Amino acid sequence: HSLNTFGIHSHAHTYARIESVSQLLALHQLLNNDVALRKLPRLILGGGSNLVLSDSLPHLVLHMEIGGRELQAETEDHFIVRAGSGESWHGFVLWTLAQNYPGLENLSLIPGTVGAAPIQNIGAYGMEMQEYFHSLRAFDLESGVIRIFDKQACEFAYRDSVFKRTEPGRFVILDVNFALPKKWQARLTYGDIASQLRESNIAVPTAMDISQAVIAIRQSKLPDPAEIGNVGSFFKNPIVSREQRDRLMALYPACVSYLQSNGDYKLAAGWLIEQCGWKGRRYETVGVYERQALVLVNLGGATGADVRVLAEEIQVDVLNRFGVKLEVEPVFV
Ligand code: EPU
Repeated sequence: HSLNTFGIHSHAHTYARIESVSQLLALHQLLNNDVALRKLPRLILGGGSNLVLSDSLPHLVLHMEIGGRELQAETEDHFIVRAGSGESWHGFVLWTLAQNYPGLENLSLIPGTVGAAPIQNIGAYGMEMQEYFHSLRAFDLESGVIRIFDKQACEFAYRDSVFKRTEPGRFVILDVNFALPKKWQARLTYGDIASQLRESNIAVPTAMDISQAVIAIRQSKLPDPAEIGNVGSFFKNPIVSREQRDRLMALYPACVSYLQSNGDYKLAAGWLIEQCGWKGRRYETVGVYERQALVLVNLGGATGADVRVLAEEIQVDVLNRFGVKLEVEPVFV
């Protein structure tokens, strides 16, 4: 339970900690020679912050602990910074800021590892990781060779990438390169950041100021997984057409929506869920966080099945009331 932030007790068939490429090469050999091992489904585990686990996993679990952070190269316009997939994401962000490579500050305090960040293209407070992504190296357990994915090959979208669609357990991300522009500009489009900075009397914020503002906002809205088990947002914010959004606005003028670059609208799933009366509701082991309806929490002893039941009830209510289908964000294993 300590390896997943929802805190679910779960047993895996086989577990391996991976700290180096040579271990993956050895594993590839082993998989070639051991049919039983090869047949096990595989789960690649980072910080376990986007997973809902069953009690018992028939899997071979590969727990990624490849470390390292370095300035890999410098171009006229960019610092190219590399981090091992097992590094803590937030630790890496703080390290880049301390080294004076700003850019990732809006993504402070997101739980999980560097290697998991590209998989769902993590995003928050007016920024998505893909904007600063350069490339990554992944070990292909099928062929036993290392493959480089540039930005285009990753097919990033909102909370999505090619890695969510390829067969799970095939590509093991080794390290990720980020291109951080030398001409830094504060990203203050997200209203909460501006008001947080005003409160602290900061007129011209540094990247470190923004990082601290984001940390304060996250701490005020989102439960700390070390204290209350959770996986952050449990549903994606649904994207709907302009017509559907206009129909909803006519019925519910307070409905929160954001215009997308293609003319569609993103709805605030938290608002939809709150309107259905779920905010702060509790069952025995699971509940909806009282300060953010998009977050489901472990009240103690939750199983994956308990979480699934609650998530499905919420989906049904939102669909019946608003005609909007909520997609689950974490991965059920
Ligand atoms: N809202 C409500 N009730 C709620 C929650 C939200 O009415 O219980 C409304 C608020 O009015 C607010 C709007 O929804 O105006 C948006 O809420 P918030 O700023 O908290 O952000 P979010 O859309 O709920 C998304 C991301 C978060 C990210 C924040 C900040 C998704 C699925 N979630 O949440 O990401 O931190 O924006 O950028 O896109 C995560 O993915 O795990 C995550 C925490």
